[in-house]
Amino acid sequence: MKVIVVKNAQEAGKVGAEIILNLVKENSKTVLGLATGSTPIPLYKEIISRTNSEKIDWSNVTTFNLDEYKGLTEKDDQSYVYFMRKQLFNHINIEKENTHLPSGLINSNHEAVKYDEKIKNHGGIDLQLLGLGINGHVGFNEPGTPFNSLTSIVNLTESTIEANARFFEKKSDVPTQAISMGLQSIMNAKKILLVATGKNKAEAVHYLINGPISEEWPCTVLLNHKDVTVIVDEEANSYKK
Ligand code: GLP
Repeated sequence: MKVIVVKNAQEAGKVGAEIILNLVKENSKTVLGLATGSTPIPLYKEIISRTNSEKIDWSNVTTFNLDEYKGLTEKDDQSYVYFMRKQLFNHINIEKENTHLPSGLINSNHEAVKYDEKIKNHGGIDLQLLGLGINGHVGFNEPGTPFNSLTSIVNLTESTIEANARFFEKKSDVPTQAISMGLQSIMNAKKILLVATGKNKAEAVHYLINGPISEEWPCTVLLNHKDVTVIVDEEANSYKK
């Protein structure tokens, strides 16, 4: 695991965008795994700005997002599909049909796992971008999720509902379930890039980097992956026992 410590969230966005843009420039048909949340916003802003100034071509790039809230669709401004269009897709020349997210209308794990098949049919994910939950979740894989999990319908923990309530009008509006790529789906990516910023991520970052590997901290599964880069800012790197 390669750990890069930067000053703040802005810097993390710049360094992360550089890694992703280099991949897209090297291979115009790159398959990217993308993430939502507030952490990747500076990274997406940097991608948009550099795409414009350097005329980077996204027309052959394919993306797969990690997760979607159950029951939400593109019409809901809290949905992750809405977020991705607003924060990234609407500002670069990516083809809409090349951007994939799990559907919020999936009702069974039999349907959910087809997302992994779709990823496989595209040759797998070249680089998966990840944020980090306060409780160590990646995607929406909460503590206790088996490491061999594939895309499925998952229950959100109280702490995740609490943490994500800031994006909704009131806490009771936060869906209690989501469709998330599993930990195995994430581990199947050829490269992983995790970004974590802010003091509230420090404990999860500590476990992510130092282990022990355990289902209690889902992010520790990444210690088993051979190509992981972690970008943290000084606050996220400040855990003291
Ligand atoms: C959500 C998402 C995760 C994300 C996490 C952290 O629960 N499902 O993919 O990494 O929140 O979000 P933030 O970056 O806003 O702290």
